[in-house]
Amino acid sequence: MTRITVKVDGVSYTDDVEPRLLLVHYLRDVVGKTGTPIGCDTTNCGACTVHMDGMSVKSCSVLAVQADDTEITTIEGIGNGEWHPLQSAFREAHALQCGYCTPGMIMAAADLLRENPDPSEQEIRDGLEGNLCRCTGYQNIVRAVRRAARSSQAAQSSPAAQAGATS
Ligand code: FES
Ligand code: FES
Repeated sequence: MTRITVKVDGVSYTDDVEPRLLLVHYLRDVVGKTGTPIGCDTTNCGACTVHMDGMSVKSCSVLAVQADDTEITTIEGIGNGEWHPLQSAFREAHALQCGYCTPGMIMAAADLLRENPDPSEQEIRDGLEGNLCRCTGYQNIVRAVRRAARSSQAAQSSPAAQAGATS
């Protein structure tokens, strides 16, 4: 067993784990973050995507011991207790059917928008190519990410945001 300390969605956890334990199993079975699903366990589907120190990773491709001393954000923490703009946009744009891919899609899209706040449709498709959806045909997922990008830009250019930036 190896002792690790990981901050998950703002809360610090210290646990003794098997060196072979995958991060996704640690998050789900030890920490209880079952909002992060397992779709394939072979790094293909992206359903298990979380952020590690702000970067999106497939948590089935990371060992829990590799997450020692890092900060993990899951779909359960991305909105800080409120709806994240991407969560609202996925709901409004009907970007999910069964919803199994949705947590990973949103976590990957958040990382994409962090790097490119105004992506084109093709850039969104390229950015999410590691995340598979077997229900939607992707069209509404792309629309949702565009919608979230627009709403984030609108929020940043609002009078309140500008007042905050200049105060
Ligand atoms: Fe991790 Fe599919 S469960 S990529
Ligand atoms: Fe079912 Fe994407 S909504 S897999």
